[in-house]
Amino acid sequence: MSQPTPIPETFRAIDVIRKKRDALELSRSEIEALVNAYTRGDIPDYQVSAWLMAVVLRGMTRAETAALTDAMLRSGEVLDLSALPARKVDKHSTGGVGDKTSLVLAPLVAAAGIAVPMISGRGLGHTGGTLDKLEAIPGFNVNLSVVEFRRVLETCGCAMIGQTAEITPADRKLYALRDVTGTVESPYLICASIMSKKLAEGIDALVLDVKTGSGAFMKKEQDAVFLAELMVETGERMGKQVVALITDMDQPLGNMIGSALEVVEVVDILRGGDPQDLRELCLELAAWMLQLGGAAETVSEGKQQSARLIRSGAALEKFRQMIELQGGDPHVIDDASHLPQAQHTMKVISARAGYVAAMQCEQIGTACVILGGGRECKEDAVDPSVGIVLHKKVGDRVVIGEPLATIYYNAEAKAQRARQLIEASCQIADAPPSVKRPLIHQVIGKSGEKR
Ligand code: URA
Repeated sequence: MSQPTPIPETFRAIDVIRKKRDALELSRSEIEALVNAYTRGDIPDYQVSAWLMAVVLRGMTRAETAALTDAMLRSGEVLDLSALPARKVDKHSTGGVGDKTSLVLAPLVAAAGIAVPMISGRGLGHTGGTLDKLEAIPGFNVNLSVVEFRRVLETCGCAMIGQTAEITPADRKLYALRDVTGTVESPYLICASIMSKKLAEGIDALVLDVKTGSGAFMKKEQDAVFLAELMVETGERMGKQVVALITDMDQPLGNMIGSALEVVEVVDILRGGDPQDLRELCLELAAWMLQLGGAAETVSEGKQQSARLIRSGAALEKFRQMIELQGGDPHVIDDASHLPQAQHTMKVISARAGYVAAMQCEQIGTACVILGGGRECKEDAVDPSVGIVLHKKVGDRVVIGEPLATIYYNAEAKAQRARQLIEASCQIADAPPSVKRPLIHQVIGKSGEKR
């Protein structure tokens, strides 16, 4: 672990709070001192809360954001994976509904000879989390120690775990404080939080999937672009290659939402199947990872290579190997009945004919949370068996009485609430939408110029 810089004797938290309150730029050493003192417990929550609120209201310069990211990164262990000959590349998504790309990408990119050390999170609000999805696989252990994580990575080229106690302890403390002080929604704080954790993985390059639309945290594209630019520049200042794709989350990604159902869809994609939007996004993200990892000259070559790795079965075999190495039951790949099963199903029927004009994507994510597929409070356990299968997506034609979705549930009252929410969130009109939203809105970052 790198040693945090000693806190100067002259450091006083009150001075740093006042300076940020008055919209002045903090120095690297002031930011470092604040983060280190807070991580050690030398300054109280109320002072750091005041500072966080000042950051929300006043913002940060790029240099301050990079200094905060660096201080948070160095508050804990930074993995040294230099002994691994392969280049290390990861992907991070800002979160969405039905977004299971991480489960496809880790084995797919590892099959191309790139190491993918993936430290992921749990569901946040209406969005699903990679760790919850992996835990739908019986026995799969997301709580490996750093030593075990390294062993899995060395053996099969990819490993997927949750944040450990050793990695970015400053983020752990700051995130918990932000959660209860109305200070989560600052792009500068989000950037430092995400980038410090990702850079602690010891990666060479990172592909960011920044979501925009009704199911994303950044509903407006301009906000997604601002955050993406901030994260790209912060990563580049720290010597990493970073590319951000602004991608669509105005409707769920793929057709399945809910932990076990999403594992089924991941296997479908790794077998070369559909759904088309999920397949397309996975191939695009994998292609950027291959290009940054040096396995492909260009992104279009990376896309072809990724499609070949799926066709040959190599990506699916990597997924099987990773599941086994992390203690999971690999039979889920050949037989979905090994995954947790909901007791009942219920159809959501269309009351009118026409076209699906729009979906309130956040509400569909919330419907899954209500079923028990996400958390309404921190203490909730996720039910991996419940979820939603969409039969119609935006632009599809629908006739009266046709099912829009099927709900997988274990409690009738919850299913009724989820059904009402899904019905209300599917807008049926006489004509399909005149403009089709693209899956990939734009790409940001000079590392990714080689398309
Ligand atoms: N995810 C994170 O890890 N941190 C944030 O601040 C927001 C989302």
